[in-house]
Amino acid sequence: MSVSPTQAVLERVFAAERPRHGDIETLLRLDNERDTALLFDFADAIRQRFMGDGVLLRGIIEFSSFCRNACAYCGLSRTNTQLHRYRLTDAEILAAAENICEAGIKTIVLQSGEEDNLDADWLSQMIAEVKARFDVAITLSVGERSRDEYALWRRAGADRYLLKMETSDVALYKELHPGMSFANRMECLRHLAELGYQAGTGNLVGLKGQTVESLAEDILFFKKGDFDMLSVSPFIPHAQTPLAAEPTGDLGMTLKVTALTRIVSRNAHIPATTAIGSLAGRDERPKALMAGANVLMPNFTPAPYRKQYEIYPNKRCVDENAGACPACMGTMVAALGRRIDYGRGDSLKQSDARLAQSQPS
Ligand code: SAM
Ligand code: FES
Repeated sequence: MSVSPTQAVLERVFAAERPRHGDIETLLRLDNERDTALLFDFADAIRQRFMGDGVLLRGIIEFSSFCRNACAYCGLSRTNTQLHRYRLTDAEILAAAENICEAGIKTIVLQSGEEDNLDADWLSQMIAEVKARFDVAITLSVGERSRDEYALWRRAGADRYLLKMETSDVALYKELHPGMSFANRMECLRHLAELGYQAGTGNLVGLKGQTVESLAEDILFFKKGDFDMLSVSPFIPHAQTPLAAEPTGDLGMTLKVTALTRIVSRNAHIPATTAIGSLAGRDERPKALMAGANVLMPNFTPAPYRKQYEIYPNKRCVDENAGACPACMGTMVAALGRRIDYGRGDSLKQSDARLAQSQPS
């Protein structure tokens, strides 16, 4: 039987050590239902083969909304003077961590804006305290910090780190991140890998000035970096940012980028992002789970603060009680014929060589 042109491109991209830019772009430009269904089904089959049917849960605690940066798309930007800033107390963080563990979840994600006054020793003590009390993996997501700080937190017990590059287009990155540099972001990712973190990165889809060519480059960047975790989110405009009037990132393109991320990375952990669940008031995360994703991230930030961590408007589940999400996610996943996986969900990429050099110095 002859293979369709789209199927042939998919197979070439999957098999290639260095996929062709043109092939990725061709797939991102697919615009008819039959061919996009082929792309999503291909990604879903790779997810099934390399990750199985389990959907991992990562419980997220957004512990501080203070931020020193002015990312043009982000509601936490320091230029947003209308945002009420908060930072959770130690007791609140530990209570949220306990809620995560009681839900049977084995990963706690500690996320914040990029705080100017973040006390590295305090965070180190929090990591140690959480690890002493609970049998969990800890993922940090607190932005660009020094190598020494990353090393300190790794020694304290942090296992993973998320630092999205947001876009691989250096000129666009510069435009959207005043005072920041793509080179420093790359150096941070290098430090994290050297220190033995399971490292994750990711992008935003639909940024003003972003092209299909640059999205194809993002996917090639994911391939080259062999990251443990990869995250793809649609851009959602926030009223108090310079991009307030820009259109929301396209769901179809976000799903295509998610699918290609699965195809090139094979066994990276890929969430059906909360932003995908928050588009236009509909929860579209099941579509991401059927296009390569294998992770969901229930929110365990205490209720009064959840609304205040407003990266973008109408974020999903800000009104739910802490702990409501896993049950709801169980229903979502069961409807797809899948199941929640209550394991730690460590990286499947850790080669012996990487493990050997995983002790922080
Ligand atoms: N400070 C940390 C950092 O910069 O990595 C973590 C917090 S940051 C708010 C988490 C993520 O939110 C960013 O990596 C970005 O991709 C996402 N984000 C920010 N603004 C967004 C928007 N308007 N739409 C969708 N995602 C957004
Ligand atoms: Fe949060 Fe459904 S995923 S309530």
